[in-house]
Amino acid sequence: MSPTTIDVAINVNGETHQVDVEPRTLLVHFIREQAGLTGTHTGCETGQCGACTVLLDGHAVKSCMVLAAQATGHEVMTIEGLATSADELHPLQTVFWEEHGLQCGYCTPGVLLSSLALLRDNPSPDDQQIRHALEGNICRCTGYHNIINAVRVAAEQLTPDQLSAQAATSEVR
Ligand code: FES
Ligand code: FES
Repeated sequence: MSPTTIDVAINVNGETHQVDVEPRTLLVHFIREQAGLTGTHTGCETGQCGACTVLLDGHAVKSCMVLAAQATGHEVMTIEGLATSADELHPLQTVFWEEHGLQCGYCTPGVLLSSLALLRDNPSPDDQQIRHALEGNICRCTGYHNIINAVRVAAEQLTPDQLSAQAATSEVR
């Protein structure tokens, strides 16, 4: 480790990534560049748009507002960790697809993870609670109506097991 870098070890989707990074490295850049998981998008990089939303120890956070150093020793879940297999959508993704809860898809990873955090915490949210949970996720395409509807349908259809499931590996890179 050089004096200008720090050693961080972050569990991303069940796989620990241990690397030296500059102290200023943002979690979103760690995820995309060190972990190679580009499903987490960058937009504003100022905490406004929500494109970079991931789960940090189960809580939805904007990964452009967290330093990689702050996440060392913690568990991150990105959109790649949502489906249990590369060939099969997670039921929440299926509902968003069926209910047309996306258009270009740029905001969708963040929207899905914010929605998952909401539904894990509150399996039967009303529309106001859904809107509140997603107020930090900006979508330029959909007008939000179908996103809100998709979360409502997911709340009706998804089981607790489906909400808690995620891909899991235990490799260290
Ligand atoms: S890129 Fe993080 S909130 Fe916009
Ligand atoms: S679907 Fe295009 S930004 Fe949300």
